[in-house]
Amino acid sequence: MDRIVVRGGRRLEGEVRASGSKNATLALMAAALLTDRESVLRGVPRVRDVGTMMKILGALGVACEWDADDEHVLRIRAGRVSNPEAPYDLVRQMRASFLVLGPLVARLGTGRVSEPGGCAIGVRPVDQHLKGLEALGAKIRLDHGYVEASAATLTGARVAFDVSTVNGTQNVMMAAVLARGRTIIENAAREPEVAELAQVLCAMGAHVHGAGSDRIEIEGVESLGGVDHTVWGDRIEIGTLLAAGLVTRGDVTVRGADPGLLDATLEKLREAGGDVDVQGDAIRLRADAPPRGIKLVTAPYPGFPTDMQAQLMTALTLADGSSVVTETVFENRFMHVPELVRMGADIEVAGRAAHVRGVGGLSGAPVMATDLRASAGLILAGLAAEGETVVNRVYHIDRGYERIEDKLRRLGAEIRREEG
Ligand code: UD1
Repeated sequence: MDRIVVRGGRRLEGEVRASGSKNATLALMAAALLTDRESVLRGVPRVRDVGTMMKILGALGVACEWDADDEHVLRIRAGRVSNPEAPYDLVRQMRASFLVLGPLVARLGTGRVSEPGGCAIGVRPVDQHLKGLEALGAKIRLDHGYVEASAATLTGARVAFDVSTVNGTQNVMMAAVLARGRTIIENAAREPEVAELAQVLCAMGAHVHGAGSDRIEIEGVESLGGVDHTVWGDRIEIGTLLAAGLVTRGDVTVRGADPGLLDATLEKLREAGGDVDVQGDAIRLRADAPPRGIKLVTAPYPGFPTDMQAQLMTALTLADGSSVVTETVFENRFMHVPELVRMGADIEVAGRAAHVRGVGGLSGAPVMATDLRASAGLILAGLAAEGETVVNRVYHIDRGYERIEDKLRRLGAEIRREEG
């Protein structure tokens, strides 16, 4: 298993370009199931989750290939979908696999996806996805660990989610675009990945209004066409690289951003002591003093993203003063805490809140990545720590970051991957 070895203490300086959004890509790949025409996605990050979604589409009998001339262009053509089942072995690797259920019912009248089950960052049920599909007329059956949804025709309906769910909103939206009549989604997730999916669905011929707000209206159409879309910059990768600037008291510029989508992240980076400038698609963070202690509460968009919590917490371990980090989106998303403590951080967790008392420095140590964003936090800790940090189980980070060590090295970090 690969490991990432970081020798800390270098100030990061320079400019890098962000990859396309991993989370947006996964939903857009599922949307390609809605049409028999070709979907071309550009700026797709070469990360493991995208590879898993490619395998799922392959298992459904759909052609999905990287372009021969551009390694970030993905071509998907669901001319025929020969198998409606997403198998357990793939779904268990990535919960977002569940995103194919809505498109499968809409396109084929039936879909079977393995029940994703629990996962490291909490229980993460799919009840809201199912509630939405049921409202559109799908019959849901749970059978031998699989969720089966079927409907001869889907009919537009009102869906009011009990919790704000990103993939749930996307799943129901993708089913509704081919349903008969009008669907109204209330308490819809407002994340940019929902808005981007809606933009792509509209480019395919769907009628979707209001995505990005908490009320989405969809007027079903008979069929959809192909699309050629460039994926928006990954707001979480961008935030992670800027946070790397903060922890190393550096001067980091990330290009390829839509800064408007990072408001909450930039606000907290500023509050924590980063000097943040936005120019066009570039965001620059400079820091020349230790971070400052702050209060941080994760929340659905436009709140501070849970996917940035571990990275910011790492910065706060080095703050002048104390911080309270409250995680409201997922239970059990503090698995980076014991590892940070092993590196010298002073953190106490009480329920959903982590109390972080800033320390003067961290010391390098072997640590274990436990999930995608926790691993990013540990790499940032390694960049700031004295001595060497070895982050084990980096397959977690490879799920969502394309060669993060290359980007950090370009900024001056002493970091390498050891394969094996
Ligand atoms: C997506 C992102 C993930 C991010 C998360 C929250 C992708 C591939 N992943 O995950 O990176 O951390 O949004 O921004 O886009 N819930 C239910 N019932 C459901 C669905 C969700 O109770 O049917 C709960 C979850 O347990 C969680 C909360 O709702 O507590 C938010 O989860 P959700 O927005 O659905 O996360 P994902 O879409 O899975």
